[in-house]
Parts: sequence; C-alpha cells; structure tokens
Amino acid sequence: MTQSPLMITAALPYANGDIHLGHLVEYIQADIAARFARSQGRETLYLCGSDAHGTPIMLKAAENNESPEAMTKRVRETQLADLNAFHVAFDNFHTTHSPENQAIVNEMYASLKANGHIIKKTISQAYDEEHQMFLPDRYVRGQCPKCGAPDQYGDNCEQCGASYDPTDLVDPRSTLSGKTPIHKDAEHVFLALEPMRDFLTQWLAGDALPPHVANKLKEWFEEELRPWDISRNAPYFGFPIPGEDDAYFYVWMDAPIGYIASFKHLADQTGLDMERYWGKDSDVTLYHVIGKDIAYFHGLFWPAVLNACGKRLPNKLFVHGYLTLNGEKMSKSRGTFITAQRYLKHLNPDCLRYYYAAKLNTSPDDIDLNLEDFRFRVNADLVGKYINIASRCAGFLRKHFDNTLSAELDDMDLWQACIGAKNEIADCYHAMDYARAIRHIMSVADRINQYIDHHKPWALAKENASNPKVQAICSMGIQLFRVLSIYLAPVIPSIAESVKTFLNVEHLDWADLDEPLLGHRINAFRPLLGRITSEQTDTLIHE
Ligand code: 2FM
Ligand code: ZN
Repeated sequence: MTQSPLMITAALPYANGDIHLGHLVEYIQADIAARFARSQGRETLYLCGSDAHGTPIMLKAAENNESPEAMTKRVRETQLADLNAFHVAFDNFHTTHSPENQAIVNEMYASLKANGHIIKKTISQAYDEEHQMFLPDRYVRGQCPKCGAPDQYGDNCEQCGASYDPTDLVDPRSTLSGKTPIHKDAEHVFLALEPMRDFLTQWLAGDALPPHVANKLKEWFEEELRPWDISRNAPYFGFPIPGEDDAYFYVWMDAPIGYIASFKHLADQTGLDMERYWGKDSDVTLYHVIGKDIAYFHGLFWPAVLNACGKRLPNKLFVHGYLTLNGEKMSKSRGTFITAQRYLKHLNPDCLRYYYAAKLNTSPDDIDLNLEDFRFRVNADLVGKYINIASRCAGFLRKHFDNTLSAELDDMDLWQACIGAKNEIADCYHAMDYARAIRHIMSVADRINQYIDHHKPWALAKENASNPKVQAICSMGIQLFRVLSIYLAPVIPSIAESVKTFLNVEHLDWADLDEPLLGHRINAFRPLLGRITSEQTDTLIHE
C-alpha cells in the first residue's frame, strides 16, 4: 500500500542568533522522521525557514548597526549551514521575510476579514517615550503586583508565578531606556476566537495533539476565548497590514504562514500543487514538530487561522521538551552554552543525533545531555555493538575470501529474527518514539554479537584460515550489519554513507531489507567512528 505524501515542518528559528544544541533536538527529531519516510519510498517534504520578524530581531539589528533585512539574510545562511552540518536535510529552508510569505499572509488576512473574523479595539500599552516605541511585555520590568518581588518581567512573575499585564507592575521600567513607560492608546487588529469555540473544541478533542497539550489548552475554554491581538505598531520589522495605518502583522501571525511560504517557494521551482498540499481536501499528511513552549500558538491560533481561511489542518503536532546539559539549563555565563559550531569542532554530528534519538520519546519531558552518559552510550552502542560487528567480520573476508560474501545465509532463523523486527521498528519511527526504536535495534545488535561470539570465527581461522565456515559466519555478520545499517540510517546518515561505500551498495533503503547480498563483493573496511574520549567531552564545555 502506498503511503500518502508526508509534509513535515520544524519550527522556524528566529534569525538573530546561532544554532545551539537546544535547537538541534527539534531539527534532528524531524529530520529522522523525514529520512525514515524517504527510506520507505514515501514522497516527503521537510520544510523550514527563518523566522525573520518581530521586535527582538529589529532591536538586535539596530544594536549591530545593520538593517534587519541584512541581518536576517546573513543569519539565515549561517543557521542553514550549521543545520546542514548536522545532516539536517531540508527540502526547503526559506524565510518569513519573503514575497511568497507576504502574498500568502495578505491573502489569508483578506479571507479572515471577508469571513468576519477580524475585529478592532483600542488598547492601552506601555510606551517608551525616549525610544518612541510600544514595549512588548518582555521589555518592561518592575515589581510584581502580587508578591512584591523586584525586577520581574511584564507578563509574569518568576517568584510567585502570577501572570498580569505590564501596566499592573509596580514601578515599571523600560528595559530599553530604564525610564518609566507611559500608557498610550492605540488601535489594534484582533482575530476573534470565541465564535470559533465549537471548531476549536472539536479540534482539541481530535487526535492531532498529544493529550497533555490538549488538556492544557482546554483550560482556556473555561472562560470566554479572548480575541488574539495580531497587530503591532511602528517601529516594527514585519509586514504592514493592508488597509491599516501604522499597523504591522505580529510576528506570530506570519511565522506559521512561513511554512506555507516555504512550500510555495519550492513549489514554484518544482511544480508541486498548492491545493493538493494545503487545500481543505488535502490527502497529504502534515506534521509539525515543535517545542512545548510554542504549543499554544500551534495548537490554538494556527488551526483557527487555517480553518477560518478554508485551508487544511495539521494531522499531528509532535511536542518535545527542552534540552538540559548535565542536568542544568545551558548557560552563557557558566560556559555551558554550546553552539552547533562549538560541538562540531570536537565531535561527530552523528553521535549527537544518535544520543538524541536514544532519548526522544513521545513525552514532552526535558531531554538531558549528560556528557558522561553521552560518551558511554555512543561508545557502547555505536562503536561497541554496531560497528564492532563489521570490524570483527570484515578482516577475515578480506584476507582469505577476496571480500566476497557467501552465496547463502548461514543462519536463516537469525536472519528472520533480525528482519522480523522491522515492522515494530518502523512503528516506532512513525510515532517518533525513537528511544524505543533504538532499544529494539540494539537488542537486534546484541543477538548478532552473540552469534559471532558463539561461532568464534577467529578460532576457526586460526586452525584453517580458508575454512568455508569462516566465510559463512563472517558473511552472515556482514549481512546483518547491513540490516542494522538500514535500521539506523535515518539517525546516523553520515555513517550510513560510509557504510554504503564499504558494502558497495547504492542505497540502504527499507525495501532493501527484503533481500540479502548473496555472493556480493564488498570493499575494504575502514574505521567508521572512533570512540569518544573524555578529553573531547571535557573540552566541549571547558574550551
Ligand atoms: O519560538 C520560536 O523560536 C519561533 N521562531 C518559532 C516559530 S514556528 C512557526 F510558527 F513559524
Ligand atoms: Zn510575584
């Protein structure tokens, strides 16, 4: 049965900083799903791009003495290069600051307006007179109105957890000028959500969201759904709202539309059909991979916008937790903030991909990168169990059998057992329960190693180096190493590339599991991965 095409997205990174190990959890998570789908021969699109708009980007560019256009263009290129270095293979990586995005945003806004979903209200906001700008909540700090804790953000208190408006803070200060902001009125554009209550209730009752996320979002329905403010006043880096003076689309309005724009930009080059992928009756599966902090935007506002514009809805949201390093939040001041570049100076990207995969399951729990455990796990599993199978068998085949695999399988039961795991492993990949996939794969690796330990080809070779039994056992080992390589390829793509050269094969696709390589000539084995040393992991945090 052919599977429907898959369109998968990862959240668009803000174009104002370096890609770090925290970002990589998500890009790798989605990349594994995309690679697995391609390995199964499924038509797959992995889409992403830069999130280029908003106040922090505008201010950062000003700080750099650069235009926001120039900064976001430059950062987009570095971020993409870093992601590619981790073998994250997008089908397209576009940007929200693009003509495609602007056209789709305007078109969708026009449709929201025509369908009566847009309202306008005048609101009072904190305003920095010196900088002549309205202040987003995060740019106002002051004393918590509830517990009195000093120096709290404008939206919620880190001490007592209260949430409030910046106008409620005692002795509020602008983080830009340090001055007390004034209150100023401005008209804003809102998306009315209460009229969409029935649709949203149904959406949350479906199976697109993980239950813990749906339950959290349902809390908002206990009261009237407040309209969502989709506009911001100048100065703002974003798209002007057609028909309004001095109003720009809020970054969170045009960011997810960036997924569609990334598709459009690709479709314009390849002829993909917009209606098939984004129309209401789409037969394409759409997955969004996101962090738990942005579940609200993707779980409520985004389906509301899509539905109100007559577009298709996502089939599933995969929500992951945050990354901690040795049990703590990564911190610039403690020197534990590890960028993609810094990691790449010391270690192989496939090792991180493997470790993340081994930790990622379907829960939104945080993922800890414990460096000792990382070293131990990669050395034990990838080097000690997986690659070891090839290095134990290849030498005998090269020395005495002209690198040629036997014409038959030595142990049909073992072959069946190893191949028999494929559906279960595929199910885990489908569900993005990679931790479970890896457990299955490693238990297959254990069985293969037991087979080699049991038959001791080295002992047989000592007695008679050209004993055909040596060829049979070592060939069996290599056949099963190939099976493991097919299972692991979505996780460790660069190692899989070297394995292709070693095995002298064109691909390591899921369908290749059906046929062993009988009587096939392989190439000389070259080490595929060295053990990670404690010096490597130490310098990673202490450099
Ligand atoms: O939270 C973030 O990093 C946002 N830049 C994610 C945007 S995802 C999508 F909606 F564009
Ligand atoms: Zn408080």
